[in-house]
Formats: sequence, C-alpha cells, structure tokens
Amino acid sequence: MSIQQGSAGGMPVLILKEGASQTKGRDAQKNNITAAKLISEVVRSSLGPRGMDKMLVDTLGDVTITNDGATILKEIDVQHPAAKMMVEISKATDNEVGDGTTSVVVLAGALIEKAEELIAKDVHPTIIVDGYRKSAMKAIEVLNHIAMKVNGSDKELLTKIAKTSMQTKLISKEATEIAQLVVNSILQVSEKTDSHYKVDIDDIKVEKKAGGSMRDTRLIKGIVLDKEVVHGGMPKRVEKAKIALINSALEIEKTEFDAKINISSPDQMNMFIEEENKMLKAMVDKIIAAGANVVVCQKGIDDIAQHYLAKANILTVRRVKESDMTKLARATEARVVNNLDDLTSKDLGAADLVEERKVETDKWVFVEGAKHPKSVTILIRGGSQRVVDEAERSIHDALMVTKDVLEKPAVVAGGGAPEVHVASKLSEWASSLSGREQLAAQKFAEALESIPLTLAENAGMDPIDTMTDLRSKQSKGSKWTGVDVRNTKIVDMSKLDILEPLSVKEQIIKSATEVASMILRIDDVIASGKSAGGPPGGGMPPGGGMGGMGGEM
Ligand SMILES: Nc1ncnc2c1ncn2[C@@H]1O[C@H](COP(=O)(O)OP(=O)(O)OP(=O)(O)O)[C@@H](O)[C@H]1O
Ligand SMILES: [Mg+2]
Repeated sequence: MSIQQGSAGGMPVLILKEGASQTKGRDAQKNNITAAKLISEVVRSSLGPRGMDKMLVDTLGDVTITNDGATILKEIDVQHPAAKMMVEISKATDNEVGDGTTSVVVLAGALIEKAEELIAKDVHPTIIVDGYRKSAMKAIEVLNHIAMKVNGSDKELLTKIAKTSMQTKLISKEATEIAQLVVNSILQVSEKTDSHYKVDIDDIKVEKKAGGSMRDTRLIKGIVLDKEVVHGGMPKRVEKAKIALINSALEIEKTEFDAKINISSPDQMNMFIEEENKMLKAMVDKIIAAGANVVVCQKGIDDIAQHYLAKANILTVRRVKESDMTKLARATEARVVNNLDDLTSKDLGAADLVEERKVETDKWVFVEGAKHPKSVTILIRGGSQRVVDEAERSIHDALMVTKDVLEKPAVVAGGGAPEVHVASKLSEWASSLSGREQLAAQKFAEALESIPLTLAENAGMDPIDTMTDLRSKQSKGSKWTGVDVRNTKIVDMSKLDILEPLSVKEQIIKSATEVASMILRIDDVIASGKSAGGPPGGGMPPGGGMGGMGGEM
C-alpha cells in the first residue's frame, strides 16, 4: 500500500507515510475544480431577493432555515479541502464586510469554471492566475471610477442600503422599518473623527426572543440584560438610575484550602455569623455611600448581601456577562469597578430607567434612556425561533453594510448592474494584454456576468434573453442598468434605490479571485492517512475519499 514517489536507479523512493494518498497534475486539478464548482452550485440558487432558502438539519435534528451564504456553508459539514477553501472565503467575506457571502462563492465558482475551459485549451494555470489577478485590479479600478460618492451621514441613503441587503432575506416585508432602526443604531454608536466615521459593531447588542411579531422589533437606547432582578424584595423599576458596575463578587471569599473552625458554643456560632453579616453589610454600605440605586454585578451575590441591597431599595442584577458589562459601561458612561473600596459616585452610570420586564416567559432587565449611549440594543421579535434567527442574520448584514458605507462613503447600484458594466470595460481593456492573458481577462469578464445571470435565473427569467437585453440596454443607457428581479425587467437599478456599498463589491472581487487562484495553482494534493492524525479540521478521508482520487499511484 506504499506510495511510490520517485525512483533512483530502479529503486522506488518512498517519502510519504503508509496510508497517505496523493493526486497529481490534471487529476488533482480536476478534483479541486469539481469540488469548488459544487460548493458554488449549492449556494447559487439563494442569490438575490428571489433566491430560495435552504433548510439545514444538523446531526441533532436542529433545523436552520436561511438564505445567507456564509451560514449555509457553515452549517454543511464540508470535507473536501478545496471545498473548504470556498467555505472559508465566504466566512472571511462575512467578517470583513458582512454581506456578499453568496456572491463571492458564485463568482469564485464562475472564475474556476471559466478557467477550466482555458485549461482544456492548454492554457497554463499560471497564466490564467496572472490574467485573473490583473483583471481583478482593473475591475476594482473601474468600480471605484463609477461608484457614487455619498454623504456618509445621509440617513435616507443609509436606510436604502440597509434595506437592499435585507430585502434578499426572509424579513423583506418589514425591511423599511428595520432598516431605519439599524441605521439609527449605527449612527448612535459611531464615532466621528474629522471627516471619518468609525463604527465598532460590538457596540450594538442584538438580543432576540421568539414571540410577538417582527413589528415589535425595537431599538433600545441602552442595554437589555437577559437576567432578572436577584431578590423579590428589590424594586423592579428605578427611574433616574445611578448604576454601579461591579466585577467582583459580593460574597465572603472562601479560602482555597479546607479550614476547620471549632465552635464550642451557640454564642460562638452567632458571633461567627454576625461577623460575616457585618462584612457583607460593609460591602453594601460602600455601594449605598456611592449613591447607587442600581447594581450590576459580573459575579455572584451572597443571600445576605442581597437582603441588605433589597433593604436599601437597590435594584440588583448578578452574573452578567463580561461583554455586557463593557457594553453597559459604554451605554451609561459608567466605569466598571474591580474593588468596592474604589467605588465613588463618579464611577456610576446614568440611565432614565432601569426596569425588569417580562419578555415572553423570561424576565429581562432593560437599562434605557442613557444620555449619549455609545452602546445600544436591538431587540428582535418574531413569530418563531427560526424567524428571529434569520432576522438576526439579516440585521447583521444590514448593520455591516451601513457600517461599510459610513466608513467608506461610496456606493454602487445592485441587480448585477456594476458587474455587467465592469465586464464590458474589461473586455475592451483585455485587448491591451498579451495573447493568453487576454483570454483570461475575457473569461474574468464572463465570470462577472454570472451575478446578473444567476439573479435572473433565480427569478425564473430566461438567462440568455435577459443577458443579451441587459448588455444592449446598458451600452445604450445608464451604467446602473440591471435586472429588477421583482418585476422581471431590465431597468436603472439606482432609480429603484437598490444600492450597495462599494466596499462589498470590492471585497467580493478580491476574495473570489484569491480563492480561485489558490485552487487553480494546486497541482498536487497529498493527504496523510488517518493513522497520522489526518489534516487539521478533519481534512479529507484517506484514499479515494476525494471522488475518484486514487489512493495509490
Ligand atoms: N431588488 C433587487 N433586484 C435585483 N437584484 C437585487 C435586488 N436586491 C438585491 N439585489 C442583488 O442581490 C444580490 C445579493 O443577494 P444576496 O443578499 O442573496 O447575496 P449576497 O449579498 O451575495 O450574500 P449574503 O447576503 O448571503 O451574505 C446583489 O447582487 C444585489 O445587487
Ligand atoms: Mg446580501
């Protein structure tokens, strides 16, 4: 079962461990190309507002219904290494710009498919990769040239962009209201420096609870904690709250080792308990002295301490996540205090109202109405768990595109318009390249057209008619002529307010080119056998698992 990697004087030379498998040259390439194309095939039907949703069932039987490229690929357990690369690029796009995770995979698939045609004509992959790289740079240059420079703080415009990204998902019906809410939340937490905006998406807490309807989704100028007030005797509502954020436990520290205390009389026992009580009371007194009427504690709180806090009418929440403590600090302008001795009135945060409310069957504490909250919460409601889950994903996309445009204020219209425009410019430009690279640039242009083509296909439009119509209308009319998939027409997409961040389009082109090049450059796949532990993350099954990949050579 050993693999022969070469020979010296007729003797085979083995360099791989037993059980390892290797595919070389054309076979390896074909394998990878097929796998990448398959991945692209999986997600392409979910591209655009008329795209279909996928129902994903995991090994535990949990069901996810989604239209989000990155989510689909995350949920399906991909084995093939080239397929994994496609999945990773989708994830990377999600982290980088938040949207376009389906497009990037569709485009990468198309680039690889077009490259396959060239490889069949004996164009070397290296030349294709070079041609693709140059084309990508040119494409981004053209995009930058045609993009509309916008005013980043134009609320109406930002809403249109947020809405475009959400329209392609489940919650398209409520898109307008939710888009406004998304834009308000981003503007609330954004920091302006000179002419630039900076947004940290972590400043927006997204909480969700199934129940009610999507219309009940709200923006809270503060933080919602999925915790209840610790003690029944405490107030459930505090106006003009002064909030202490404490990250140490309000408990008597237990010693590390077992200490034995000999108590010989009931008096001694009482003294001991009293001493503990005193210490706990002293802790609470420090909080009272600082003037707090709300305490949010990251750690635990002793029953006795709870009792004293209740007596002092202080609303208290315990065991709050560290990330929520940070958000609370930003929302209420408080300082998280490690040591109670340091607590002063200056450390307290302020909010108009802190209140425990019932959300379905849970009790949650709402901290609202801070003066200049630099952290806010979007509370998503909706008919069922699946609806709120998908709404959360759509809102994530919408938050990200709004952030993208605030940080880089340039947009393009959607519906495949920029792709077709760039494709035609690339075809013109291709003639300036050398013979074979020219072929690659031509293919790159064709691959870009896979976006409008797929959008049209998903809307049930005839792909060939649509593309010819689109090309001819675009060459005569506006550069924003694209496929209006809702009315199955070819129109100026900017007039329909279908707008997307330039940065998303740039990222799609960059990432798709990168992964396509990476996959095309591989001409040797070596997989170690299971005994060697396998490649990281599961890798591919040893021998033959790669669809026709021979175990022995
Ligand atoms: N009303 C519309 N008509 C035509 N095309 C549209 C419309 N709205 C959005 N699009 C297009 O749909 C595409 C985006 O689709 P979709 O949101 O499903 O995928 P994605 O953004 O690539 O990935 P994901 O959102 O899953 O991360 C873009 O090309 C966009 O221009
Ligand atoms: Mg999208």
